[in-house]
Amino acid sequence: MKTPLLYQLEKSKLDLVLGRWNQTIPVYVPSGKGKDISLLPMVDFPRTEAYINLTLPVKEMMFEQKEALFRWDRDAGGVKVENLSNQHAGERILYGVRACDTYGVGYTDHFYLKEFEDTNYASRRDKVFIVAVNCLKAGPHCFCTSVGTGVFSTTGHDLALTELEGFYLVESATAKGQQLIEAAADFFVPVSDEFAGDVSPGTLLAMKEQLRQKVADSFPLKMDLTNLHEDMARTFNADFWLDEANACIGCTGCTNVCPTCTCFNVVEENRDKDHGMRVRYWDSCQSDHFTRNAEFHNPRNALSRTRYRVYDKLKYIEERFGYKGCSGCGRCTDVCPTYISIIDIIHSIQKEAKENPEPPAIHQITAMRHEIFDREINVRNGLFTPDVATITKIELETPEIKRIYVKYDDPALHKNFKLNGQFFQITVFGEGEVPISIPFGPEESDEFDFCFKNVGTVSNILYNLKVGDKVGLRGPYGRPFPYEPLKGRNLVFIGSGVAMAPLRTILVQVVDNLQDFGKVVIMASALQYDKVIYKDELKLWSELEGVEVHYALKDPTDQVKAHQGYINDLLPDLDLDWSNTTALVCASPKRIKEVSKDLLALGIKPTDILTTLETHMRCGAGKCGHCKVGSHYMCVDGPVFTYEEMMALPPEY
Ligand SMILES: Cc1cc2nc3c(=O)[nH]c(=O)nc-3n(C[C@H](O)[C@H](O)[C@H](O)COP(=O)(O)OP(=O)(O)OC[C@H]3O[C@@H](n4cnc5c(N)ncnc54)[C@H](O)[C@@H]3O)c2cc1C
Ligand code: SF4
Ligand code: SF4
Ligand code: SF4
Ligand code: FES
Repeated sequence: MKTPLLYQLEKSKLDLVLGRWNQTIPVYVPSGKGKDISLLPMVDFPRTEAYINLTLPVKEMMFEQKEALFRWDRDAGGVKVENLSNQHAGERILYGVRACDTYGVGYTDHFYLKEFEDTNYASRRDKVFIVAVNCLKAGPHCFCTSVGTGVFSTTGHDLALTELEGFYLVESATAKGQQLIEAAADFFVPVSDEFAGDVSPGTLLAMKEQLRQKVADSFPLKMDLTNLHEDMARTFNADFWLDEANACIGCTGCTNVCPTCTCFNVVEENRDKDHGMRVRYWDSCQSDHFTRNAEFHNPRNALSRTRYRVYDKLKYIEERFGYKGCSGCGRCTDVCPTYISIIDIIHSIQKEAKENPEPPAIHQITAMRHEIFDREINVRNGLFTPDVATITKIELETPEIKRIYVKYDDPALHKNFKLNGQFFQITVFGEGEVPISIPFGPEESDEFDFCFKNVGTVSNILYNLKVGDKVGLRGPYGRPFPYEPLKGRNLVFIGSGVAMAPLRTILVQVVDNLQDFGKVVIMASALQYDKVIYKDELKLWSELEGVEVHYALKDPTDQVKAHQGYINDLLPDLDLDWSNTTALVCASPKRIKEVSKDLLALGIKPTDILTTLETHMRCGAGKCGHCKVGSHYMCVDGPVFTYEEMMALPPEY
């Protein structure tokens, strides 16, 4: 924020200013009584000054509880999509916002607008003016001064008002703030360096600082959070988490009222079978489905869910973005029906860290932030709107795995295609969207093929589509397997069933350039041979000089020579210099760990095992929060990680 421009506004003129603004832009003011205070249009609702804070943060003005992403319509000519991210309410002035919420806006601006711009948020944010009114009194659960985000607004506002003696000191922090000043210029008296004495900028700012200190001193709740991150690193497994988890009923109230919670889910709203919309709505890591994978596998239980929210708010967000993830507004404590309090939890963390500290584990003490993979995401049609493509061919790889070939309806998209990601989001119109890995190499840019298993709602319907049917494509997303650093090394590819697909993108490049690599070993595993994908290619590759293909199956087969058992059993007999070998392992996290343990025992380095972590994903672009583990988004910072990086993540996947 730039150095603010200062003005004085007589207190008695405030309503005239609000009225003036309201002539051109609707002004929303605090209205209601007691704890039920909402921001409502001043034309219909009386303004109150008797409030500590708004019941809900202002984030809903920029990130609505439910909002449309795109619409699709099918007719004889195909499917048309229309990005709806710009179709929102007009300009609004939000008056009376407190510091904990302007801090929240500062954070959500960073979160939604940096890296990859969330087009929905951007179009709303652009039209919102924020006028902060600094607090003079704290509520029982306010702790912004302990977190360092209050008590007076420092970010996220256009104008900030501080009530001094009979007048407001008005600080204008942005061009929008200046626009508001100019709209009612006859009421705002500029304070400039030319003035001296009581009305000099220095004197007025000193008065404000004196008041800030007085208000901060009056806070009933004061906590020293200096060592909180270290304390949290030593209490990850503390017993009190189970007590908190047992009390939590997963109602998601705590995240709904939080000014810094940004997560959402996406669902389809269909008018009929040919017309529909994809919408997003607020979602919460406190609900059970948030991290659920196919076939009802869920890596988080009640304990890890409860703990995750607190770690995200107090640690992970700050590690990832440099912003406090909790602004200390106290709302989650106010709202919890079972009296779970983030304040009590902070006290428990501090007490436990002092009396009963755990030895710090790597994932708990490392403020690890992988370099964010530098790439562009195509947002020409809004971040969440897919491009239409047509299915051109379908092959049955196994009884439940199909390989579909697709072409964009707009050929220019193939022409300009750059393979700089690891997966696509594939839409089945009217049904939903699923992340599916890229199995093709950079040479195959005129037509894409994907291999997928029918495991649930969307994949089952995708499975039954026919040649000529339309799908939507968004991507490519995610950090891909590296190619260049593999040159000169032996390579071991380990994939089970459909998990061979993500490895194929590198495999096809390697087999075309075998002279650049040492020995190449491909290890395919499955329950039965008919569940192995790419059977024909595996046979062809096995005939190449320098390439070995091994199979590990549960059931015997006479179709290929196969080991009956796990892939791990075959590793010691591979004739490899393990110090110059990279292993690319694609499986469930549990299997990745089992295979990696054996690879490490053979002498491979943890940095030379590459894996992909396929957590639950909804958006693919670092926004919905579903894939987040610790301070990392699997869709943006991964899904490809080295084993060393994977083991440094908290065990939340
Ligand atoms: C980066 C990545 C790459 C993937 N590549 C492939 C691939 O190449 N081939 C393939 O067959 N499968 C792949 N998957 C898994 C595939 O996305 C899931 O099987 C699919 O999302 C299941 O959705 P559904 O609606 O059919 O099932 P449901 O069980 O009805 O799923 C409901 C929702 O849960 C989420 N979900 C469920 N399972 C998973 C999962 N395993 N991973 C992530 N989110 C999940 C999805 O958001 C889905 O919309 C990949 C997953 C990720 C994250
Ligand atoms: S975690 Fe709780 S106290 Fe912190 S900002 Fe969110 S709602 Fe407010
Ligand atoms: S993951 Fe973080 S931002 Fe998302 S709902 Fe949970 S606490 Fe809020
Ligand atoms: S408000 Fe309380 S009960 Fe509800 S999800 Fe949050 S912690 Fe659990
Ligand atoms: S943040 Fe949405 S999938 Fe990663």
